[in-house]
Formats: sequence, C-alpha cells, structure tokens
Amino acid sequence: MGRGSLFCGGGGHAQTAGDAAAGRSKSGECTECHGAKGEGTEGPKLAGKSEAELLQAMRDYKSGKREDATMKALMSKLSDREMANLAAYYASLK
Ligand code: HEC
Repeated sequence: MGRGSLFCGGGGHAQTAGDAAAGRSKSGECTECHGAKGEGTEGPKLAGKSEAELLQAMRDYKSGKREDATMKALMSKLSDREMANLAAYYASLK
C-alpha cells in the first residue's frame, strides 16, 4: 500500500469518484461472468459504460431495486466505496 495513486493522465475524463486501480484489484470475482476486460461472457458487457451507469446498476442490485439474485449476493458483500472503484475500473476499459 501507499504507492497506489493514480494516473488520470491529462484531460479526457471528468472527475472520477472511484479509484480504478483499486477496482481492478477487486475485479477478480467479476471476470468469470463479465470477462477479463469487461467484455462480457455470461454476464453483460461492462466495458465502455459510464461510471455513473455502472455504479447505479450495482447499487440497484444491492438494494433490490434491480433484481438479480447473483448480482445481489455479490454486491451485498461490497461497500459503496468498492462499488465506486469497480465502476471506475470498468468504465475505464474499452
Ligand atoms: C456468476 C456470474 C456473475 C458474476 C461473478 C458477476 N456478475 Fe455482474 N452480472 C451478471 C449477470 C447475469 C448480470 C445481468 C443481470 C440482469 O439481468 O440484470 C450482471 C449485471 C451486472 C451489471 C449491470 C450491467 C448492465 O449493463 O446493466 C453490473 C454493473 C455488474 N454486473 C457488475 C459486476 C461486478 C462489478 C462484479 C464483480 C464484483 C460482477 N458483476 C460479478 C453476472 C455476474
């Protein structure tokens, strides 16, 4: 820990609430269904969606507003911060 701070190399993206590097390190559990690059396998493609959209979807699964038993079980283990980081990570992929 300690040296994790980020790129954000010059213009291009608006402020990012989540930490994409931290999200990446948490994404191991997601790759099975969303692919190593968020391209989607069993689950939908996540790469290239906006961070806000991804975060909203994750929150909605957690709260039950959006129903999917698999995603709910996964999201219930994550904090808001972790969801934000994951959203930032997947939004950064193409
Ligand atoms: C066991 C398979 C599986 C795993 C593991 C999994 N997902 Fe999913 N995910 C799905 C499926 C299936 C859907 C679509 C559910 C639906 O119809 O709403 C989904 C939907 C999503 C969506 C909404 C996408 C959209 O286009 O609306 C997001 C965001 C998401 N997952 C993030 C994650 C993250 C982050 C992880 C890792 C912490 C993860 N998922 C792990 C199967 C999985």
